[in-house]
Amino acid sequence: MKKAKRIAKVPPYLFVQIDKQREAMKARGVDIINLGIGDPDLPTPDHITQALHQAIDNPRSFGYPPYEGTFAFREAVAFWYHKRFLIDLDPNSEVMALIGSKEGIAHLFFALLDPGDIALIPDPAYPVYKTATLLAGGRPHLLPLLEKNGFLPDLKKIPASIARKAKLMFINYPNNPTGATADADFLEEAVAFCRKYDILLCSDLAYSEIAFEGYKPLSVLEIPGAKEVAVEFHSLSKTYNCTGFRLGMAVGNSAAINALSIIKTNVDSGAYMALQMAGVEALTGSQSHLKETNGIYERRRNIVVEGLKKAGFQLQVPKAGFYIWPKVPKGYTSAKFVSELLEKTGVLVVPGSGYGKYGEGYFRISITSPDERLREAVKRVAAL
Ligand code: MLT
Repeated sequence: MKKAKRIAKVPPYLFVQIDKQREAMKARGVDIINLGIGDPDLPTPDHITQALHQAIDNPRSFGYPPYEGTFAFREAVAFWYHKRFLIDLDPNSEVMALIGSKEGIAHLFFALLDPGDIALIPDPAYPVYKTATLLAGGRPHLLPLLEKNGFLPDLKKIPASIARKAKLMFINYPNNPTGATADADFLEEAVAFCRKYDILLCSDLAYSEIAFEGYKPLSVLEIPGAKEVAVEFHSLSKTYNCTGFRLGMAVGNSAAINALSIIKTNVDSGAYMALQMAGVEALTGSQSHLKETNGIYERRRNIVVEGLKKAGFQLQVPKAGFYIWPKVPKGYTSAKFVSELLEKTGVLVVPGSGYGKYGEGYFRISITSPDERLREAVKRVAAL
């Protein structure tokens, strides 16, 4: 077999490698505390699982779904966006159902990039932005997310010659992996920049509902005129504790949604209708679980932040999302620290370098584990 050259350009998915290491250690009988992947341990709210049970019993849910998503699901997305952000979306042209936001994000690159085209990609970042650029034959131009800039890209540093050639730019706030947030000033700057250079601004809003102390993350579509240049991705995964559902949405600029639909309708046949029916309940039903969920995450954040600070680690306290991004101790690379931590203590975290070269020197902790496990993990880290 001769593999395509594009395969050689991308590594196996970050968590595929991490899972292999974890399984090998588990097989040796090690008590692993998995603070790796951001996979909520809290239950999907009952009213959503009940809606899913009912939908599975509905024979109308078994067939092919409409390619762009059921109208009911797209309407529910528009309803949620209006309720949450006061943004009006046309469910017919500005909303598309996705098999999880990862799928839609990856496919968008194929809709936008011709071979050699430039994509402006943050670093460190969710690995999909860069790998999908490479798989689509594009060229990633990295935007360093530096601590001194609050982990926001410095748009003024992008050379005009690059900006003129770029087709799209990704942003992701609340941010994975750094835990940073963006205010309206930054989003306005990003919209103005993309308008000036005719770039599609792509916002990954997966973590918008996990926030603390009254902070409400913004949608880029709240910026006046943003719809002319922006699309946004959201997912039910983190908001409703259902990563396995694989249900998300792309919203915003209708030309971009249309371009994405050309790719998607040719490569997949949509999300299982029973999930979309449950998704309608999730988006239009009670959101009251969020208060409890965010209280739990805030308490966990405090356990980790206070414990690690006491142990001498340097970190910023995140206002949103469920990731903590401490610096590795002096004398370590990210990979060396993470592998020594796992081997000696059984605590699994993610090396910052797995998110890009500007992630070197950091590691990521996900707080999607119970309090006792987080306390035990902090104790083990401190004792390393
Ligand atoms: C993460 O932990 O970064 C995400 O949950 C992983 C993913 O979505 O693949």
